[in-house]
Amino acid sequence: MSKYVCKKCGFEADTDKWMWRCPSCGSVLDITGKVEAPKITLGEGDTPIVNLFGFGGNVYFKLEYLNPTGSFKDRGSAMALSQAQKLGIGCIVEDSSGNAGISVAAYAAAAGMWATIVVPQGCAPGKRQLIEALGAEIVEAEDRTAAGNRARELETRGCAYIGHQWNPWFIKGMEKIASEIRAQLKGIPDAIITPVSSGTLLLGLYNGFKKYKKIPKLYAVQASGYSPLYEALHEKNGDKPSKLADALQVSNPPRLEQMKEAVLKSGGDALVVSDEEIVMALSKLLKAGAIVEPSSATALAGYMQLVNSDKIKDKEKIVIVLTGSGLKYPEVLSLISH
Ligand SMILES: Cc1ncc(COP(=O)(O)O)c(C=O)c1O
Ligand SMILES: [Zn+2]
Repeated sequence: MSKYVCKKCGFEADTDKWMWRCPSCGSVLDITGKVEAPKITLGEGDTPIVNLFGFGGNVYFKLEYLNPTGSFKDRGSAMALSQAQKLGIGCIVEDSSGNAGISVAAYAAAAGMWATIVVPQGCAPGKRQLIEALGAEIVEAEDRTAAGNRARELETRGCAYIGHQWNPWFIKGMEKIASEIRAQLKGIPDAIITPVSSGTLLLGLYNGFKKYKKIPKLYAVQASGYSPLYEALHEKNGDKPSKLADALQVSNPPRLEQMKEAVLKSGGDALVVSDEEIVMALSKLLKAGAIVEPSSATALAGYMQLVNSDKIKDKEKIVIVLTGSGLKYPEVLSLISH
């Protein structure tokens, strides 16, 4: 039997009710105990891992952008929406500026649920159109924070709030990526480099690898101007806010303490990359045939920083997670010249 647990206040409860945060202290919840594979599936997970032209044989790219809706979020949505359906929930609400909204809208459609997605003004048009095409209702809010507040208001009117940045099922759904990587590489890599905003993927990797003897060094790459994890571990980063990494613009991730633990205990680090570095990395990825979005290219930009500062050695086995598809962004990719 699975349980909700709050590591902050000790709250524990059966998972027979929908909870996205601790009802006792308001902190984040985690799931313990046995969890079934998601019942609602669109074929997420089991993504390929490949070497790419121009990078060494020890550098592996985990192609999370090949998930059903073009991002790793599908792992979390499958798990969270399956749980919602199990509890008889027929209507969900979510706030997202893009990939999570698309993913949740698709899995809600797959589950036959009503979905409302609250997006901030300025959300990438391609992403917004996809959410609508999937049958979800769009509500627009002034910015990211207002979108969260509006979504939670709608929750009080009878729809379950998914809250992927908080939701313990969403994080749980990410964990399988660790066993996939281990099986694909026939061992555990030395380091994994991944883009990070609210930390769901980072924590999925950390929790997933915790069951094995070795945890790879986890490098969390943040976009300049949106680097709370970096700032929690290093000095303040005053760089101008990234415009390109639109999927990484989170300033107050609810799981910051857990994210710090994941990076420190794994022996990794947090990094910050600028829009100039993102353009360089994106161009390299496109040259190698990988059609990813700018927020994903941050992981390669982070890798380049680590190589330049000698923190990664040639003989080390590295995994770079490519999180989101560039097919949603033809207008951005057309700006990249070779
Ligand atoms: C393409 C892409 N990469 C990375 C991330 C960061 O993921 P997380 O919020 O789990 O840290 C996001 C989140 O929206 C994303 O859309
Ligand atoms: Zn609590």
